[in-house]
Amino acid sequence: MTTITQPAYAKLNLTLDILGQRPDGYHELRSVMQLTSLSDEVELDVGTGEDWKLECDAPGIPTDGANLAWKAAGLFYQTLGKDPQGISIRLQKRIPSQAGLGGGSADAAAVLLALNRHEGQPLSQRQLLKLAAKLGSDVPFCLTGGTQLAAGRGEVLSPLPDMPDCFFLVVKPEFSVSTPELYAALDQEAEVFHPQTEAMERALRQGELLQVAGYLGNSFEPLVARKHPGLLAIRAMMEDCGALGVAMTGSGSALFGIFDAFDMAAMASMKLMEHHQTFLCRNLKAEEL
Ligand code: C5P
Repeated sequence: MTTITQPAYAKLNLTLDILGQRPDGYHELRSVMQLTSLSDEVELDVGTGEDWKLECDAPGIPTDGANLAWKAAGLFYQTLGKDPQGISIRLQKRIPSQAGLGGGSADAAAVLLALNRHEGQPLSQRQLLKLAAKLGSDVPFCLTGGTQLAAGRGEVLSPLPDMPDCFFLVVKPEFSVSTPELYAALDQEAEVFHPQTEAMERALRQGELLQVAGYLGNSFEPLVARKHPGLLAIRAMMEDCGALGVAMTGSGSALFGIFDAFDMAAMASMKLMEHHQTFLCRNLKAEEL
């Protein structure tokens, strides 16, 4: 039996533009995505000689074949046409779930990376990306990392220059949002907010943090803020504490603020942690994955 570990990093959507429904039931989107240092720890025992098993230290996470990490291991060995002779997965969760941070996708990507390394890299990056896209729309990005423009349903990736170094304060309010329900609600909206993706790309090419922070935006945010006005108070608090920009990530409910100084981000965290879960992290570059 071999034990392998792999960190699983959370993503943020610097921009998330939902462009419309597709015939396959998904939505066409355009998003500038960023990997962060906020991470789960994935530990795998390969070749246990026992039934497959998954343990997780956080409540409410499936611990069977419904877990995306389990599915990733299954799909990997099915593709290889090999029986690993028993796998045991342990997930140490730090990324909050139902936050829009891609926690489940990050775990699945970590499993693919770890198993491919363990087996001596039998699958190319291209083959891994194909498996990742089958598992979920955000999994390919979690395999790639850095700063990327995501198109299609999220799986068509083009690299962008790494965002300038900064600190993120991620704030997860009590309430959670169902992603499919939010997409369905957006379809009923007369007008949808569209962030300026191209301006964000330009800001990244210029390497200007202030501009990057100025072009944050998410098509879902006005909808979620209307139902949960508490989001506005979190936003205001982060701005008061010196955030250069604030936005919701993915389908929420977490908001993140961009700070150029750690002590300001820490100050905002102290103020907000009384009522919400808060997480301090930084941008992760592609080569850090
Ligand atoms: O791909 P993933 O399983 O993460 O997507 C979860 C749900 O989010 C889908 O079942 C779908 O309802 C919605 N979705 C969508 N368009 C996307 C991505 C996700 O409608 N581009």
